Amino acid sequence: MFTVFIFLCVSFCLAGCEVTDTTEAAAVSHVAAVDKVTTTSDAASTTGRPFQLQKPMPTRKFAHESNLDKDGAYWLFWEANQTHVTFETHVKTRGYVGFGISGNGQMFPGDVVVGWVKDGVTHFKDCHTTAHAMPQEDDSQDWVLLHGEENDFGTVLRFTRKLDTCDDDDFKITDDTIRVIFSYHPDDPAHVTSLPWHGLARRGSRALLLLSATSASAITVPSDVQTFGFLKSNYHVPAAGTTYHCSTYRLPDLPTKHHMFKYEPYVQKGNEKHVHHIVLYFYNREIDPQYDNLNFDCTMGKNTPDALTGLRSIFLVWAVGGGTYYLPEHTGIPLGDHGDPKFFVMETHYDNPTHKTDIVDSSGIIISYTSQLRQHDAGMIYAGADVYPTQIIPPYEKAFVTKSYCPEECFQSALPETGVNVFAVFQHAHLLGTAIKTRHFRNGTELEPFADDKHYDFDFQDIRARTHEIHLQKGDSVAVDCTYDSRLKTKPTYGGISTQEEMCISMLLFYPPMKMNGCTSKPLYENVSTSLMDAVKAIGAWDWTQPSVRRRFKSIVDNTNHQMHCHAGGMKVQRITRKIVPPTQTYQEPRGNCPT
Ligand SMILES: *[C@@H]1O[C@H](CO)[C@@H](O)[C@H](O)[C@H]1NC(C)=O
Ligand SMILES: *[C@@H]1O[C@H](CO)[C@@H](O)[C@H](O)[C@H]1NC(C)=O
Ligand SMILES: *[C@@H]1O[C@H](CO)[C@@H](O)[C@H](O)[C@H]1NC(C)=O
Repeated sequence: MFTVFIFLCVSFCLAGCEVTDTTEAAAVSHVAAVDKVTTTSDAASTTGRPFQLQKPMPTRKFAHESNLDKDGAYWLFWEANQTHVTFETHVKTRGYVGFGISGNGQMFPGDVVVGWVKDGVTHFKDCHTTAHAMPQEDDSQDWVLLHGEENDFGTVLRFTRKLDTCDDDDFKITDDTIRVIFSYHPDDPAHVTSLPWHGLARRGSRALLLLSATSASAITVPSDVQTFGFLKSNYHVPAAGTTYHCSTYRLPDLPTKHHMFKYEPYVQKGNEKHVHHIVLYFYNREIDPQYDNLNFDCTMGKNTPDALTGLRSIFLVWAVGGGTYYLPEHTGIPLGDHGDPKFFVMETHYDNPTHKTDIVDSSGIIISYTSQLRQHDAGMIYAGADVYPTQIIPPYEKAFVTKSYCPEECFQSALPETGVNVFAVFQHAHLLGTAIKTRHFRNGTELEPFADDKHYDFDFQDIRARTHEIHLQKGDSVAVDCTYDSRLKTKPTYGGISTQEEMCISMLLFYPPMKMNGCTSKPLYENVSTSLMDAVKAIGAWDWTQPSVRRRFKSIVDNTNHQMHCHAGGMKVQRITRKIVPPTQTYQEPRGNCPT
């Protein structure tokens, strides 16, 4: 009863990740949002009273909300604690409502509930799907109905379940990117075994972070909020598949130090499919005012004035699918003080696969800041694989893992004595990426990862707000493991900034700042050739149809020396070359309380 979503996959690349040898760790993050409330006037339903045409009021306060269908007909409110998630759906129908979770966004296998209100009685069943067919009732009913009613909006269902119900027919709810699936129908069924088909229009799927979304309700808004919009000004997007367009901005002078506490995307209505990602860079050096308010095409870095190339840091990132980001209440990104970011370049990736000629865009990012300083200055680093052809993903692999390292040596010199506390993570790969894990090591032992997404979704890239902070201290190291599915490829895929190439990057947000922008690594393949580029070339020519060749490559990757770079302030790059010793003890996820 649920659906398959065909995503238009386009590229998002943190262009410049490998060239950002700039100064102080930047503050960052990521945003976005497309949850603009669109209220349409199409009566979404059937008989009876007309529906209200706006966002429904939840029956109580929830930390999170999302309009799942983008037409305003299906709303989800939710809240999670250590053990449970409680959901409330408001759907423009007086018939049945389906809701569930699926690993892949498709209709099966799925863990679903179906409910409806008839003659004042709420019917509600915990079901599962195993095929393109009606869901089957679970033997164990673990989703629990709390409330059901029909109101002026439509049908309201509130229900709760444990994160891990121990039922094989249910999905375990984790911090992975979760695909929720939904459906509804104008009519009530006679029974859960006789649901009329919802049709193609009344169903869908949407990626969400159920456990680590940020929320406006977690912060109090300061009394002196100021905003600044990094916005394009009626930019006419060229009739080209991919365009990177750059604009420059200078923040107004601030009399004192301020803290940025929020940033949100503004995506011009109608251009949601074309504005694919935005990276805001800043420069720590003085930039001459002649470069203010420039607009130029910067696809592949062309047309960028020399004064603005190299030497820049990422200030924030937004990608399709992301929402407004709120920094935790005790942290802020410093602005306005001597040495704080002042001059910015905003790079917007426009995707225009059908070469439309009439796209005019004024999208961008709006930041909010305050003079009421929060307790801590926040900082950001990136970690991951060099964005370079040394990242090689063999074809025909279901789950090939690229491993990159940020060694103890980088943190030893960059971290403050007391270490830092990591509060958010943004992970990024391109189209082949299926899972990303940002790992944490201390003295040979692997600790709880900073983030572990076993269901990475290229079309949903949101910042993960950690429910508890993780302390990173001198002596620790970090690794980023990206898993790729290359079964549809016949040639190797290389690291690079375009859609067809791959990336493996993780950004950590923390406080207080440290003296590093990021660290990346690459394998040296010295067993193949002492010249790295010769090795890359030679490997590219191998006969990948042979499983033995692919096995050999994996063995080389596991045993080669890696060159690791710590990108500190200025142009300083510390290089460390050695083999990676796996931890003697890997991290074991806490076992659930399920009987075996
Ligand atoms: C978590 O939420 C569930 C469902 O609302 C509730 O029963 C439980 O007591 C909550 N646990 C904590 C620790 O608050
Ligand atoms: C690191 O581990 C080694 C071996 O288990 C141990 O002897 C040493 O004391 C540990 N060091 C720290 C700082 O914990
Ligand atoms: C690297 O080369 C050495 C010496 O030829 C060989 O013994 C070893 O098996 C090679 N390692 C890999 C992973 O191919």
